[in-house]
Amino acid sequence: MLTVAVLISGAGSNLRALLEAAAEPDFPARVIVVGADREADGFGHAEYFGIPTFLVPFEQFDSREAWGAELGAQLAVWQPDLVVLSGLMRLLPADLVAAWSPRIINTHPAYLPEFPGAHGVRDALAAGVDQTGASVILVDAGVDSGPILAQERVPVLPGDDEHALHDRIKPVERRLLIDVVRRVATGDLDLAAAARASAP
Ligand code: GRF
Repeated sequence: MLTVAVLISGAGSNLRALLEAAAEPDFPARVIVVGADREADGFGHAEYFGIPTFLVPFEQFDSREAWGAELGAQLAVWQPDLVVLSGLMRLLPADLVAAWSPRIINTHPAYLPEFPGAHGVRDALAAGVDQTGASVILVDAGVDSGPILAQERVPVLPGDDEHALHDRIKPVERRLLIDVVRRVATGDLDLAAAARASAP
């Protein structure tokens, strides 16, 4: 059974979907802990499913590195097989990424490498494209720049605002995330091989 730690900052709707999938008896992974950089609403989903949580408040540290060191210490307590960034709105320090790579993945509401960063949905709308998408990637030291593990197109519809478009992207993100976690757990997806395949 693959053990998973999920890191969030917000509502945790993608976390919720993963928790629901993982509650199915035949799902080959279990979420063992949920962490956040702030008092995230998504902690409520962890509590509902009886999953432990930890909080490493970014604002209480002098530097990203100090914050990342504490986050790493918390993860080390739980020793998950896989770390999922599910709406964690912080860039991880490079040494933390290096420590967990390739066992750390992220979801993103755009078809990477298009529209990386914190405003992927807004940026797609501003660019006037007629399709965007959702991606699940390996985390590297850059911003949404890691190897792509899964992605799917989502159309931009006339009249879409950021909220409406994000609401249509999120179900796709959830499906891709759950599928990637399942494939990692079954061995169908080898993260180390994915990392090697894209190495320069
Ligand atoms: C997701 O679209 C994630 O990719 C983005 O923020 C959203 C998180 O939503 N960075 P939620 O917290 O899972 O509801």
